[in-house]
Amino acid sequence: MAGSTRTGLRMAALACVALLAASCGSDSGSTGSTGGTGAAPALEGRGDITLVTGKDTSNNMQRLTDEWNNAHPTEKVRIVELPESADAQRQQLVQNAQVKSDAYTILTLDVVWTAEFAANRWAIELPRDQFGLENFLKPAVETGEYRGKLYAVPVYSDAGLLFYRKDLLDKVGLTAPKTWDELTAACQKVKALPEGANMSCYTGQFEKYEGLTVNFDEAVHTAGGAIVNEAGQPTVDTPQAKAGLDKLVEGFKNGTFPQKAITFKEEDGRRSFQAGELIFMRQWPYQWALANKTDGSSQVAGKFDVAPLPGVGAGPGAASLGGHNFAISAFAKNKATALDFIKYFTTDAAERSNLLATSQAPTRANLYDDPELVKQFPYLPTLKEAIMAAKPRPKAVRYGDVTTAIQEAAYGAITGAKDSGTALKELQTKLQDLLK
Ligand code: GLC
Repeated sequence: MAGSTRTGLRMAALACVALLAASCGSDSGSTGSTGGTGAAPALEGRGDITLVTGKDTSNNMQRLTDEWNNAHPTEKVRIVELPESADAQRQQLVQNAQVKSDAYTILTLDVVWTAEFAANRWAIELPRDQFGLENFLKPAVETGEYRGKLYAVPVYSDAGLLFYRKDLLDKVGLTAPKTWDELTAACQKVKALPEGANMSCYTGQFEKYEGLTVNFDEAVHTAGGAIVNEAGQPTVDTPQAKAGLDKLVEGFKNGTFPQKAITFKEEDGRRSFQAGELIFMRQWPYQWALANKTDGSSQVAGKFDVAPLPGVGAGPGAASLGGHNFAISAFAKNKATALDFIKYFTTDAAERSNLLATSQAPTRANLYDDPELVKQFPYLPTLKEAIMAAKPRPKAVRYGDVTTAIQEAAYGAITGAKDSGTALKELQTKLQDLLK
């Protein structure tokens, strides 16, 4: 696999050179129509810019940016890395916008922040017809829209998947569990093996941050509920939402989740899975490439596979729709350069190279059906299905307050500080106010 990754990267790099030549034209920074919602404002100014992002865990963002910089010596892009946690990233982006700073040009927005950045006019409207969005996954495109206009272009999509130790399940004659009951039964069997005795069954992301909002959202949907209904009104004081939250509460109580998972963000869980401590893990696809590394950083390379998240009862599990989009700060100079860079970064070639290097979910639909890519990343069809069926988190201008309220309720319940019924009643009241 490592050999074919290198070949793939070389091919993608060659394609990028061709692509850079094509994107060097000077007309691409002009305005475009917005598909019936009036013309987007002109994007003017060329010169150096910044690209603000969370952690570039694979260094591929830097690699693609270096290629751009070599081809655009007067329009260089400098990457600014923010902290690992989504909430800390949002905080810095919001603070920067509130003081109208021009330090950040391209903003990597989590899919749940579009409404806030658009409504506050911190991100500008983008010319919808200039990105070939018809070739992108529809749910991903929708995350970049606010009131019918486009404010952010999908760069990475994301959906939760069940990572599992296929080698150990094979040993006990089982395939990937489709339900929570099957999952816990499988753990018992694996733990009866000598190599399974010290392993933990399952983890997700349970620290008090955006990842917990995601895990709560998935648990609620998996139990047949929703945080908000189709009209955007909160529906968390329901038996379904309680059944979902109780799955997480029980997981900690009955030892299905290791106690230390209460402190886990994505990277903590990934390290634990890679150290061979976990049988199952709810994680984003970026883990695939890292956990398959054969440089000694992973004990589980080639030993795991992925499946859709398990359901409760006969129903399927539900993934929360994640991902990141590029927006342009309203306060930035050199917006024309920013627009060109966004186009460059979302071409077929760039997304292909990114998938090969990072295993992050592309936003271009055709890559999921490409036979060469599917050979290398056999989970792509499962991931596409998960994304197409994924549930969005609430769309809210006050998303920061919404997610804090959710985190407080969920964390209170899983730590045993509050019973789940009370936590959800209080959450319902808070959300009714915040989502008015
Ligand atoms: C991933 C997802 C993002 C989500 C975050 C939570 O980065 O892509 O949408 O908010 O995880 O930790």
